[in-house]
Amino acid sequence: MTQIIPQPGIMDIALYVSGESRLPGHDDVLKLSSNENPLGCSDAARAAYAAAAADLHRYPSTDHIALRRAIGDVHGLDPDRIICGVGSDEVLQFVTHAFAGAGDEVITTEHGFSMYPILARMVGAVPVTVPEMDRRIDVDAILCAVTDRTRIVFIANPANPTGTMLTPDEVQRLVDGLPPHVLLVHDGAYTEFAAGADGGVSLVDRHPNVIMTRTFSKIHGLGGLRIGWGYAAGEIIDVLNRIRQPFNLSNAQMAAAEAAIRDTTFRDHCADLNARMRDRLRQSLIQMGIGCDESHANFVLARFIDPAEAEAADAALRADGILVRRVAGYGLPAALRITVGDEDGVTRVIDCLGLFMADRRG
Ligand SMILES: Cc1ncc(COP(=O)(O)O)c(C=O)c1O
Repeated sequence: MTQIIPQPGIMDIALYVSGESRLPGHDDVLKLSSNENPLGCSDAARAAYAAAAADLHRYPSTDHIALRRAIGDVHGLDPDRIICGVGSDEVLQFVTHAFAGAGDEVITTEHGFSMYPILARMVGAVPVTVPEMDRRIDVDAILCAVTDRTRIVFIANPANPTGTMLTPDEVQRLVDGLPPHVLLVHDGAYTEFAAGADGGVSLVDRHPNVIMTRTFSKIHGLGGLRIGWGYAAGEIIDVLNRIRQPFNLSNAQMAAAEAAIRDTTFRDHCADLNARMRDRLRQSLIQMGIGCDESHANFVLARFIDPAEAEAADAALRADGILVRRVAGYGLPAALRITVGDEDGVTRVIDCLGLFMADRRG
């Protein structure tokens, strides 16, 4: 028997379940299980990645300055208050490591992104899950759960897997109600798909206890490369940089990300396509009798009558080579999360579920 004992909390972590990508017997699988960009990434990003192959023997910059400047230029932010990580997951991990520890409380919400409780447990903190209201984050429930031991509140806005969003006034009320020792993490992985959203910039600029995170994995189509970033007050960023490994991002990651963020034409094209296809998918689901809240992200949450119907719908989709996400682990056993595809992808989903529902409900 080993006497090498892991830190408290670690053995309570249930492994993260990612979207499936293979379906035996199908070679034209339509993967709509991980909220990836159906158009891939920008050509400029792909070219920058290829060009980086010439310098594989060189260590990357430790300060990510070129990428931080590019992010700053495009979003009108001070590069000194930006930190980059291996996906926004790594930035979320820096935050948790830096600001929560054994016995502290970390607030997440009922259907919140499953990495948040994992991160809390990783540092020995206690994840405190508060209820949502009809699949929307409930500001009052969060504020009621705050104690002297609370260190961090995680919200994704738009939220995954519900796709719902708090209004700027609701988020403001949340920040105003938090004591100054509590850090609000405003996770904006899906910000670009929410028309007019600033991802938390104005909050960060007014409140020293807010950090916003963003990713290159969704609208920029670089999920396979793993790049994300955060923006906060200089004091917070300084703390996070102290626990960041100096070479956390490779030259290839940074080159591709810099090209991607500067390609605003591609970004806007993707956002426009997503908005049109999301609307078409949602309206079709509703017409078929499948529940579907308005989504502000690049996926929709299809709600069936009960878990058995969701399972049967999933089986019908799989039989047609379509992979979507079961979200029972998010407290939504009667729902499926479906990434918004391109025109053909959305048509395949609508055709499949249309037949399924006609057969099922007559
Ligand atoms: C809400 C939310 N936050 C963060 C992430 C992490 O993204 P990444 O680490 O790829 O930047 C995801 C990915 O699915 C997400 O849905």
